[in-house]
Parts: sequence; structure tokens; C-alpha cells
Amino acid sequence: MQAVATERRISPARNIEGSLRLPGDKSISHRYALLGGLAEGTTRLANFSTGADCASSLASVEVLGAKVVRENASVEITGAAGRFRAPAQPLDCGNSGSTMRMLSGLLAGQIPDPPTPFTLIGDPSLSRRPMERIREPLAQMGAQLNLTDGHAPITIHGAPLTAIDYTTPVPSAQVKTALLFAGLQAHGITTVREAVRTRDHGELALRAFGARVDRTKDSVSIAGGQPLHAIEATVPGDLSSAAFFLCAAALFPGSNLIFDDLGLNPTRATLLDVLTALGAHIGVLNLETKNDELVGTVQVNAPPAGLTGTAISGALSAQLIDELPVLAAIGPYTHNGIRIRDAQELRVKESDRIALVAANLRAMGAEVEEFDDGLDVPGGQTLHGATIDAGGDHRIAMAFSIAALRATGDTLIRGAESAAISFPEFFDLLDRVTER
Ligand code: S3P
Repeated sequence: MQAVATERRISPARNIEGSLRLPGDKSISHRYALLGGLAEGTTRLANFSTGADCASSLASVEVLGAKVVRENASVEITGAAGRFRAPAQPLDCGNSGSTMRMLSGLLAGQIPDPPTPFTLIGDPSLSRRPMERIREPLAQMGAQLNLTDGHAPITIHGAPLTAIDYTTPVPSAQVKTALLFAGLQAHGITTVREAVRTRDHGELALRAFGARVDRTKDSVSIAGGQPLHAIEATVPGDLSSAAFFLCAAALFPGSNLIFDDLGLNPTRATLLDVLTALGAHIGVLNLETKNDELVGTVQVNAPPAGLTGTAISGALSAQLIDELPVLAAIGPYTHNGIRIRDAQELRVKESDRIALVAANLRAMGAEVEEFDDGLDVPGGQTLHGATIDAGGDHRIAMAFSIAALRATGDTLIRGAESAAISFPEFFDLLDRVTER
């Protein structure tokens, strides 16, 4: 479904204050939806992501024979008990790379009755994103995936799979998870090795659904033939959605923002370290573990003297991949700027995020230098309000709404509706915590 194009006017703020409980983490919601769709029994999820992306995962498992009952953020999924049915229509992944890649892994070993190929389609942005990264290892396992010039639409002919030992060429939790989902249905033990440890929600979700997953420092292994059993879970609040508010609060001396029940999985929480390094005061309390996922309360206060500056490269860039646009967008307001390298993956996200961040910062009057794999955003700059083109990318729309809070004059965010891909409540919650 195509959302109606909307614009949002963001006026400068005086302060950020309040307390928020955020909708469920997008990465975890996808994995629970997909595994719940294949599992035996009825999975009951509370605080499921309200974004359009995770709705694509739910809709896909529904087409594949799972029964889905949804009331706002509460979702019940009665799974297909290990065997998906032949789909009567293409599986529409919308804007969601996570759905397309992880579902491909889940389908690679599925042979429905009657044997029918699965077709995965996406919107124009998703249809430009690289899919060879899943085709190649899944083909090694025995599945046949036909791409369209390296992209979606994808046709998958499921087959009996053989386990592989695979080292991912680019750091990608989506690829790792796709291979673990395929490995669950393969003959033998599948091992995925990665040079940089990416988010581990796939591993934790598989364990929650009853599969045994073994890990070393740089590898994860799963034996095929393990059944999945339904779970009951509350999805932790999404830290990548909180990132916009955390960065906003870090900009205003006197700010005070509290998040309850926020997902704090260590493979996702690097932003808190970066904000601390920038001088923000971050407090974490009430830590607990739910289905192996760390959850807690986070409080942020800005440093009275302003944010310092930092350089992000190597493994940090992979760990912060979804937070880099907003970090770059607040870079001009730091003293020493934000330098980002080794983040070429940003160019193949929902948009070319390096190019769009640079173009939109320049539209606001900032000086910025673009590199193949990152950006240099000097500090100590004053930005003015401007018209921002979100380029259909949710994280660009939200990142520049935060930059707008410290600009002089109003900023118009074009394509503001794209925030609903991950975070439909974003603008309402931003209004709620912004003092003007
Ligand atoms: C995700 C992994 C990341 C991230 C995306 C969600 C996941 O993508 O950018 O928003 O849930 O595994 P890659 O794995 O392609 O880096």
C-alpha cells in the first residue's frame, strides 16, 4: 500500500523533556513474526513493532499459511508447524529488506505441496537493494534463487538443504539470520562466521523458540531438523527509534528524557557509548532479561558545555549502521564534528544514506565532505531551516527532524510519511517531548 505523501514542519526547540515507552524493536519483531509463522502452536506477542516493515513480515507468513490475529501492538500467530503452504500470491515485502532477506532463508528449505516456487517482491527502493548476498550462500546450500539483475523480484525453488560453513563477506545480521533460518532446515550443522559481530537477535530468537544455537566469539552454528515451538513475549522498545530522541535530548543543556522498557541488547547499544563519549550523561537502570534480550530504563541528559565530537569507523560503523544518519545530522552542533568511515553499507540501505545526509545537511547550510564509505561533518556550525527531501527513507526523515530542532527557522520535511516504515508514532512523540 502506498502511503500518502505528507510534509511536516519542524520548528526549533528550546528543550527536550519527558518520558517515553517506545513500540517494539523492529529487528526482534521481524524475527518473532517469521519464526512464529513457521513454529508449532500459537505465539502471543505484546508491543509488536507498529511499523509497516514488520507488518510485511506478518502478511508474508499469513500468505504462507500461518494464522495472524492482530490488535494494534498485540499479535497472535498460529504457525504452520514446520511446513509452509504453497502461496497463492507473491510475497510482498514492501520496503523491508529484513523481510525479504530473512524470509528467503526460511523458504530456501521449504517444498510446499504441490511443489511451488515462492516469489518475493518489494517496492521500488527494495527492488534496487542487493540480494546476491543471500542468493550465493543459499545456492551453496542447495536452494535455487533467481534474482532480477541482482535484485528483487526473487523466485525461490526450495530444496533439501545441506549445511555450509560460511564467512559473510559484508557484515550483515540479515544475511547471518537468513543462513541460520536455512540452517535450521538443512542436513548437518550450519556455521556462519563474521569478521564483525552484528546484532544477534536471530540467534536469541531461535533459542527463544526452542532451537539450540552454539556460539563462539566470531561464529554461530545451528543443527538442522530442530522443531520450533510458539512463545509468549513482550518485544522490548526499539533502541534505533529511541536514537532520534536520545540525540535530540543530547543537544539541549537542561534536557531530561527517560525511556522505560527499552531494548538494550549489547549488539545494539553502541549508541549509548557514543553519546557518552560525546559528553552526554546516560543512566541505565532496571536491567532485566526477557527471552535472552536485555531490557532496561535509560535516562539521558545533555552536557552543559555541549557535545564534543567523535570518529566512528571499523566495527563501530557496522554496529551503529542504523544510527549513523542521525549522528551525522547532529554533527554540525558538536564542537569537533562527527567523522564516519567504513560505512559503505549506508549506500545500499532504503536510500543512499551517505548521499542524502550530505545533500540535506548542505540544504541546511552545513559544510560536509562526502566519502565513498562515510562523511566528515565539521562541528561548530549553525544550520538554518530548509526543505528536506527524505527520499522515501524513514531514517532520513527522522534524522533531519532532529537536526531541525537546533536550526534557525522552520524546516519542512518532505516525505515525512516514510517515518511510518519503522516508527509511525515518531512525530507525535517528538511533539510530546519538545518544549518550544
Ligand atoms: C537489521 C540489520 C541491518 C539493519 C536493518 C535491520 C536486522 O541490516 O540496517 O535495519 O534486523 O538484522 P544489515 O544486516 O543488512 O546490515
